[in-house]
Amino acid sequence: MTADTPPVFEADFAAQFDTLLRWRRDVRHFLPTPITDADLRALLETAALAPSVGNAQPWRFVRVRSPRIRAHLADHVDAANAVAANAQPDLDRRAHYRSLKLHGLREAPEVVAVFSDEAPLAGYGLGRTTMHDTLRYSTVMAIHTLWLAARLRGIGVGWVSILDPATVTAMLETPEDWTLIAVLCLGYPEHPSTIPELERRDWQHREPVADRIIER
Ligand SMILES: Cc1cc2nc3c(=O)[nH]c(=O)nc-3n(C[C@H](O)[C@H](O)[C@H](O)COP(=O)(O)O)c2cc1C
Repeated sequence: MTADTPPVFEADFAAQFDTLLRWRRDVRHFLPTPITDADLRALLETAALAPSVGNAQPWRFVRVRSPRIRAHLADHVDAANAVAANAQPDLDRRAHYRSLKLHGLREAPEVVAVFSDEAPLAGYGLGRTTMHDTLRYSTVMAIHTLWLAARLRGIGVGWVSILDPATVTAMLETPEDWTLIAVLCLGYPEHPSTIPELERRDWQHREPVADRIIER
């Protein structure tokens, strides 16, 4: 196959791709099994196949290896989570919220923070003069690509957003032009499932997509 000869995807592959999408989960419970460097590298390489505005490839990955930073990160998210629990409207909701596990930062074999470069040289500004956020959208595309590539290898990903981006950015000492998009926990899931954990825990069920479409 050459770069100009598109592959023909068979029906079996289409069915498997659909299965992959249905088994992709946000994961907070991880087995201690490590992810190999080769697998992690492959995931980041695959993430970089995502589309990006002007082909700017604004995604930047920070592999968090320091146990000290990891512990600070987990403490910070726990504190932010306690505040978020108190913001729930009533006692029942607060108790329900507190019963949820919303990050695996202490146990996940790998933690990767994903940033978006707000001033990348690549792309020469194409496509973003009127929509600067398209750089961040591009980085989110890379995260989703990584999420699927990970599930394909049996690896789970958990997106952590209950945090103060400025605090986490300071912890990670990243370049000034980088904006934090996500903190990701990666590892082999303890409870693979086709059902989102928040649905299993009766917090929020999936709703029909038909309710989310309007016509003009
Ligand atoms: C932008 C974003 C932020 C998220 N932040 C968190 C988080 O802080 N903690 C958490 O447990 N899940 C987080 N999630 C995961 C969602 O809860 C999850 O995607 C949703 O419940 C549907 O479950 P599924 O991904 O397994 O289909 C986040 C997901 C996205 C896309």
